[in-house]
Amino acid sequence: MTTTTTPAGGQTAQQTTERRDWAALERTYYQHTFNRQLVMERGEGVRVWDANGTVYLDLVAGIATNVLGHAHPRVVQAIVEQAPKLIHVSNLYINERQVELAEQLYQVSGGMRSFFSNSGAEANEGAIKLARKFGRLHRDGAYEILSMDRSFHGRTLATTAATGQKKYQETWAPLPDGFRQVPFNDLEAVKVATTAKTVGILVEAVQGEGGIWPASHAYMQGLRQWCDEQRLVLICDEVQAGMGRTGTFFSWEPMGMRPDIITMAKGLAGGVPIGAMLAAPRADLFEPGDHGTTFGGNPIACAAGVATIRTIVEEGLLAHATAMGAYLGERLEGLATKYPAHITSTRGVGLMRAFDLAEPRAQEIMDGALARGVLITNAGPATIRLVPPLIIQPGDIDEAVAQVDDVLAAL
Ligand SMILES: Cc1ncc(COP(=O)(O)O)c(C=O)c1O
Repeated sequence: MTTTTTPAGGQTAQQTTERRDWAALERTYYQHTFNRQLVMERGEGVRVWDANGTVYLDLVAGIATNVLGHAHPRVVQAIVEQAPKLIHVSNLYINERQVELAEQLYQVSGGMRSFFSNSGAEANEGAIKLARKFGRLHRDGAYEILSMDRSFHGRTLATTAATGQKKYQETWAPLPDGFRQVPFNDLEAVKVATTAKTVGILVEAVQGEGGIWPASHAYMQGLRQWCDEQRLVLICDEVQAGMGRTGTFFSWEPMGMRPDIITMAKGLAGGVPIGAMLAAPRADLFEPGDHGTTFGGNPIACAAGVATIRTIVEEGLLAHATAMGAYLGERLEGLATKYPAHITSTRGVGLMRAFDLAEPRAQEIMDGALARGVLITNAGPATIRLVPPLIIQPGDIDEAVAQVDDVLAAL
């Protein structure tokens, strides 16, 4: 073993040839916020390798984040070209990549302007602030946001208050005021809950963490109409469903309506941390001093974002996601038919798929798939969620389904 000792007395990892027990070190040095064992070392396309050299087919994709898979050459090249030029510059100055990414989002959103942050929660925080400004200016100081049961909007206090799942909220009371949840896909519930205090409606057109539940088109159109009638803002959280995952750039696109505010993150920069909050002219109300960020819209993240969107558009990945999503859906239906005692239903849009289990055995199924070289995730104890990269091929889907079939057969 060759090591050098740092002035603080620790060992520098790069200069240590002895294998380190990363899982044990993680337990020592990292807060216990995640229950995890597997040490991931590198990835390429739809595959990822652990520190022992075991390869996995990755249908988790950073939870709907590595939309172009791992180490996509165009994302890598964008980062490598940008890094020597400018890694970071304050938002006191314009950076070219940030403007380019905003320009692309303006085009794909039909004329909405961007504000960049670092995560989905932060993007939603920006949307909440913007809605409150709208309320101050146009609705007598209204500030309350209606969001949906089973929704997920992030882990900050405000986005926890907006999240419609008690398990994320219970421990953190008191949560910030100004948030109420109503049942999803129920327009009447929104109407009944709207008061003089209400300023906006926050909705995922396809709920992700809650278990892949698409909104009905009529519901989304009804929300739009209600917002117009009542002078409210309609916010679509596209953090998980956006970036082509459902086969269109935004998941609300086929639903016959347009939001006033869109939030994005996850896949926007192909795996580099970024968030975005887009505003249509009606809600584009921020002025200098209203909102800000040190890192948001950083040149590296935006360079990766520009490359990611270009690749999705130029390589026809929206149509590909639609086709692969339909195929994955069919194959999951096949599993449901074969294992009626285990799978009670399947659903999804594009490459955002789920199946429900008769019993809360999601962890067992994930563990079984992992042991067979396939990474899948869950949405609660009785739902399996599949959010693979948009570049996935039919052969990969066949391989994943065969392994999950094997797991189900062994249950
Ligand atoms: C729909 C939705 N909104 C917001 C978030 C929060 O994003 P982040 O973890 O980047 O803060 C998530 C994360 O899973 C999400 O799925």
